[in-house]
Amino acid sequence: MEEPKGRGGDRVHGFKFLLLFFSSLFLNVFFFSYLFLSRRTHLGWSRAAAAEAELVAAISCSGHGRAYLDGILVDGLPTCECNTCYSGANCSQLLPDCSADGDSGDPLFLEPYWQQHAASSAVVFSGWHRMSYRTTGDNFISLELERHIRLLHEAVGNAVTDGRLIIFGSGSTQLLNALVYALSPENASTPASVVATAPYYALYKMQTEVFDSREYEWKGITSKWLNTSVSSMQNFIEFVTSPNNPDGFLLQSVLGGPNIIYDHAYYWPHYTAIPAPADEDVMIFTDSKLSGHASSRFGWAVIKDEKVYRKAINYMQVNTMGVSRDTQLRVLKLIKMMLAEMRGEGGIFEFGYKTIAERWSKLSKVISSSNRFSLQQLSPQYCTYFKRIRNPSPAYAWFKCEMEQDVDCSAVLSEARIISRPGTVFEASSRYARLSLIKTRDDFDLLLRRMEALVSKEDVASF
Ligand SMILES: Cc1ncc(COP(=O)(O)O)c(C=O)c1O
Repeated sequence: MEEPKGRGGDRVHGFKFLLLFFSSLFLNVFFFSYLFLSRRTHLGWSRAAAAEAELVAAISCSGHGRAYLDGILVDGLPTCECNTCYSGANCSQLLPDCSADGDSGDPLFLEPYWQQHAASSAVVFSGWHRMSYRTTGDNFISLELERHIRLLHEAVGNAVTDGRLIIFGSGSTQLLNALVYALSPENASTPASVVATAPYYALYKMQTEVFDSREYEWKGITSKWLNTSVSSMQNFIEFVTSPNNPDGFLLQSVLGGPNIIYDHAYYWPHYTAIPAPADEDVMIFTDSKLSGHASSRFGWAVIKDEKVYRKAINYMQVNTMGVSRDTQLRVLKLIKMMLAEMRGEGGIFEFGYKTIAERWSKLSKVISSSNRFSLQQLSPQYCTYFKRIRNPSPAYAWFKCEMEQDVDCSAVLSEARIISRPGTVFEASSRYARLSLIKTRDDFDLLLRRMEALVSKEDVASF
């Protein structure tokens, strides 16, 4: 039987359409593959550098160390740099009498995170990358990095940056003094008084004393100045660290004067609940505790008042002429990656929080069975980033020796082969000591083992 004419014509048209469609698909795939592959073959000058970087990264250090491109060479290859208490060519030997090191805020707890995100966090520098003093923005600032810092604060919800000015520093350490300088009243008859609430981060005092000048001087702890008149408050510069180093509490100004530097080094969801975006006039942040790249020496300040900003910029100009442009590129890459992965399985805050909360919980459990020692009391709190109540995850344990005879708590820990930072460094009692929870897993595991041994001795002594 003959088919109706119209349907036969449709079939021919349908066939032609399919032919055209698949030919176009094939050509598209062909051209895209060609473009991609030909681009790959043009990867010339970066290829050797990439191979070199991967070769060194692949050196096995038994999970207790790592090799770097600029490490000490043996047989032409960089050697393993071992974690504390590990040694040997591949870091496989645990040194039996080595003290657990709970000192310093080296944020190496984030090293495994970056190893897990090796591909998305690597940066390649050409030999001529930004050789000039100049960069895209005024004052030696990469505009793209500044934009991403604002995006990051907005995405995390930990600081208001709209209508504020941003300045970069070589670590927040450089910014601390730049801002003391910027907030000091000009032509005042007496130097500005720089103060903080104990226990406080020791660098505020050390730096102010080193740079002690006609303009400002260190005047100790805020409690000494509570009765100062409102008019004299103009002459005070108060450091407020929130969350506080060493004890992790979210703090507010005690004196309530007009010149306050809020150090928000730890105001990130790894270390604390974020109850609301910080909205103060002068706020300092650091990449050292955000991404853990303390070596890159990158910090920034968010400043409301243009005059304060200008003075701080002037300080940076006569000091270092801005932050290393190489560092700015690296930090830009890290922030882009953190933004891209945020709130997902690969999120840095999810990783960071989980790691420290677990460490804090393990240490708290050991100390809870002790009558001799205690830790700061932190409570679960609602976090706007995680949108739930979260457990504490402080960067440091603020450890206290409760017994009358244990006057020097750091010495008690030292006898138990635990290195701590004495409370006196923070202008607190020697009954306190700070223990870091943000170092390597090896550091923490050994610290926990030594602490278990110390606490279990109490049980024996009480029999
Ligand atoms: C409270 C506080 N502020 C500032 C800093 C300095 O950080 P960086 O100079 O690495 O940015 C630290 C470092 O531990 C800190 O704990």
